[in-house]
Amino acid sequence: MLRGKIILIGVSGGIAAYKIADLVSRLKKLEAEVHVVMTRAATEFITPLTLAVLSQNPVAVEMFEDTTRPDIQHIELAQKADLVLIAPATANVIGKIAHGIADDLLTTMVMASTTKVALAPSMNVHMYENPILQENLNRLRSLGYQVLEPGAGFLACGDTGRGRLPEPEELVDHIIKSVKAEKDFQGVRVLVTAGGTREPIDPIRYISNRSTGKMGYAIAEAAAERGASVVLVSAPAQLTPPPGVEVIRVTSAGDMHQAVMQRFNECDVVIKAAAVADYRPRQIADQKIKKMEGGLKIELERTPDILFECGQRKQHQVLVGFAAETENVEEYAKKKIGQKNLDMIVANDVSQDGAGFGTETNIVTIFYPGGKKVEMPRMSKLDVAFGVLDEVGKILSVKRKEPQ
Ligand code: CTP
Repeated sequence: MLRGKIILIGVSGGIAAYKIADLVSRLKKLEAEVHVVMTRAATEFITPLTLAVLSQNPVAVEMFEDTTRPDIQHIELAQKADLVLIAPATANVIGKIAHGIADDLLTTMVMASTTKVALAPSMNVHMYENPILQENLNRLRSLGYQVLEPGAGFLACGDTGRGRLPEPEELVDHIIKSVKAEKDFQGVRVLVTAGGTREPIDPIRYISNRSTGKMGYAIAEAAAERGASVVLVSAPAQLTPPPGVEVIRVTSAGDMHQAVMQRFNECDVVIKAAAVADYRPRQIADQKIKKMEGGLKIELERTPDILFECGQRKQHQVLVGFAAETENVEEYAKKKIGQKNLDMIVANDVSQDGAGFGTETNIVTIFYPGGKKVEMPRMSKLDVAFGVLDEVGKILSVKRKEPQ
């Protein structure tokens, strides 16, 4: 199943390093070519010999172990590999990678890598929650590194919380998704909207919302991975667009409306993950509004409801809405399916921990017109995106069988 794929695993020094033996053996069973690089600290937890035997390849630790042949082979491998996975990734290694420090073979290999790099953080819960670590992870995410969600539960140190390395089968699952996404969206034209629109008040101020665009960007990435041709209509977002995706940058709801309508007819799937402002200032001041005595009233008017209009114009398109709610999620989400003529709606309660704006994870429920619902557990936004596309794929295959 992973025949021909090269997986390079970087093991750093955490207690969960023992799980890598199982991971390597599972990858070998799937016929992957597996190479392992370890930090010196990792060798305290599991021997290089174990991983060499299981991977059927030499395991490298030191940069200059053999003076006749400095280890450039692993640097070359970091370019050839289909995926570099650092697991477990300790706080120390994450900090080094985030700041460009390459002082051993593992970090040098990551620095030299031109391929996808995923990190599976694993550590004590307090270390994991440390804002320094979180900032480092965010930095890595914004630079295009994949960061896997650690599991929650009883940790080796005796604490309970988030910080567990995902189980080997979950790691394998991620590797398969990452290197071998089934190209089941080949030939499908997908339009995704993302981010929070900005509605100008004057040349300096605007009204906006807390959306960061992460969910929409994840959907664009997953759709492109699965072979779709993707147009991403993005409101301002501090994110790097995924490779191979056409990006149309917009600012306001009005701009987004225009961009979506221009492309609507040529799309097969429209996924509206953007948080579109419902109201905008009726007048936009030409000059900066100066402060005066007393309060200030800004009169607002409605913006076009883009998704509603898509629903009116819908022919063969699969139309997917998002609903961010803080109460009565199911009731409101179901109402929007009918009002906007949707094929499905992805609803989330943004007041829940681990869901909604700015978070790395999401907890969503997908509702269908007939009342069917699919609940998804808390997972990374990329995994939610894959899940949403699985559902879209089912609707597409039903539509294809219908007489046109
Ligand atoms: N949406 C849109 N255009 C708007 C407002 C919303 O296309 N002017 C889309 C969003 O992209 C999302 C869906 O409609 O996919 C639902 O957005 P949401 O803000 O949850 O709902 P609203 O339609 O704004 O309704 P309400 O304010 O009652 O929650």
